[in-house]
Amino acid sequence: MKVTIFGTGYVGLVTGACLAEMGNQVICVDIDASKVERLNRGEIPIYEPGLEPIVRSNRAEGRLGFTTDAVAAVAHGEIIFIAVGTPPDEDGSADLQYVLSVARTIGAHLDRYAVVVNKSTVPVGTADRVRATISQVLESRGLEVPFDVVSNPEFLKEGAAVEDCLKPDRIVVGASSERAVSMLRRLYAPFNRSHDRMVVMDERSAELTKYAANAMLATKISFMNEIANIAERVGADVELVRQGIGSDPRIGHHFIYPGAGYGGSCFPKDVQALERTARSHGYDARLLAAVEAVNHDQKAKLFELISRHFDGQLAGKTIALWGLAFKPNTDDMREAPSRRLMEALWQAGANVRAFDPEARAETARQYGERHDLVLCEHAYDALQGADVLAIVTEWKMFRSPDFSRIRSLLKTPAIFDGRNLYEPAAVEAAGLAYYGMGRGRSLQVAK
Ligand code: UDX
Repeated sequence: MKVTIFGTGYVGLVTGACLAEMGNQVICVDIDASKVERLNRGEIPIYEPGLEPIVRSNRAEGRLGFTTDAVAAVAHGEIIFIAVGTPPDEDGSADLQYVLSVARTIGAHLDRYAVVVNKSTVPVGTADRVRATISQVLESRGLEVPFDVVSNPEFLKEGAAVEDCLKPDRIVVGASSERAVSMLRRLYAPFNRSHDRMVVMDERSAELTKYAANAMLATKISFMNEIANIAERVGADVELVRQGIGSDPRIGHHFIYPGAGYGGSCFPKDVQALERTARSHGYDARLLAAVEAVNHDQKAKLFELISRHFDGQLAGKTIALWGLAFKPNTDDMREAPSRRLMEALWQAGANVRAFDPEARAETARQYGERHDLVLCEHAYDALQGADVLAIVTEWKMFRSPDFSRIRSLLKTPAIFDGRNLYEPAAVEAAGLAYYGMGRGRSLQVAK
C-alpha cells in the first residue's frame, strides 16, 4: 500500500521503516530539512537497536524515502499517518499545535480519499479536532473530498521499538468508518502472527486506551517504589517482596521493579496529561496525581542517600555515575533520573564523572562543557578519583562488575544501586558499602 508518515521522530521513523519492511511504499515527511537530508544520507538520528539496517535496506530497495515536500507526500499516501510530537505545554496538557498543523497541511493538498491515522499520543477528542480541521481547510478550498480520521495509538518501547512494531501484542484501531477499518486491516494483516491482533473500537476509546496503558504501567512502578520506601523503614527487602507478589499471576512479574523513578518521553508526560484531561472534565484523578508525586520524590532518592552518606558535606566530592539514559538500550535523556541526580549533586558542589554506553553525546549536548562534569569513554574510567559509585541505568554491562576493581578505584568504597542490580551481601563481602532502593538497611549510613 502507499503510506505517508508525517514526522520522522521516534514513532514516525520506526513505523515508516517497519511498514516499508512489510512491502509497503512509504514516504516519511518532516519539516526539518537537515534531518531529512541526514536520513537521505542513511544517518539515523536516534539510537534504536535494529532500526539502521531496515532503514538502509528499504531505502536501497526504493520502498522508503524521506522528504520535506508535503504536497508530494499527501499526493502519495492512501493512508497518511500523523506521528509528530505532542510535548507538554506549561500546565502539563498535551500541546496539539504540530498535530493540527499537519491536519491543515493534509486539508490543503488532499484531492482524493485517504485515511488519516493519528499515531501521536493525543488527548481524547483529538481525532474529532483533526477531522474538523481537515474539513475546514477543504471547505475553504471549495472542495468535497472524502476522508476518514482514525486513532491508532503506538505502544512502542524505546530500545525495543523495532521488535515491538514488527511483533505487536495488539493493534488498537479507533475508527467509525468501515472503509477505513478495512484499509487498516489490509495494512496490518502481515503483523497478525498466529491470531488477529487488531482491536477495533471508537476513536475516543482508542485515544484513552493509550493513556490508560501508560498510566497503569507508571502506577505499577510508583506503587513498587512506595513499597520500597516502606520496606527500608520497616527493615524488609523489597526485592524479596517483589518476587513474592510477582508470582501471583494477577500481579505478574513485569513492571514491578523499584528504582530511581520512571523517565522517558511517555510516562511522565502521559500521566500528567491524563490528569489534566480528567480535571478539565471535572474529575479529580487522585491516583494519577499520587503516581506522579511518588515518582517526583523517587528521582531525588539517590541524591538523598548519597548526601546522607556524606552527612550533607558533598562539596568537592566526586561521584561516579554508571548510566545516564532514562533506561538501557537508548540514548534518550528525556526525564532521565540521572539528570535530577547530577543537577542536585552540582548544586551541592559535587563533581560528576559519568559513563553511559550510548547517552554521552546526548548528555554533552544537554549540559555543554562544565568543570563539574566529565563524560568517560569506559565504565571504570568514571571511577578514577571518584569517592563513590551510583548506578542509575541498568545497562546489561553493569550487571556483574569487578567489585574488587571498583573498591580499589573508589576513595570511600560505596555503591548506591539505583536499580537494585546487586546482592547487598556480595557487594559488602567485596569490601564496599551498599545502598539499594528499599533494601532493609538502606537508610543506615554504612561507612
Ligand atoms: C513506555 C511504554 O512501555 C510503551 O508501551 C509506550 O508506547 C511508551 O512508553 P518507554 O518510555 O520506551 O515505553 O519505556 P519503558 O520500558 O516502558 O520504561 C519507562 C520507565 O519506567 C523507565 O524509566 C524505566 O526505568 C522505568 N521502569 C520500568 C521502572 O522503574 N520499573 C519497572 O519495573 C519498569
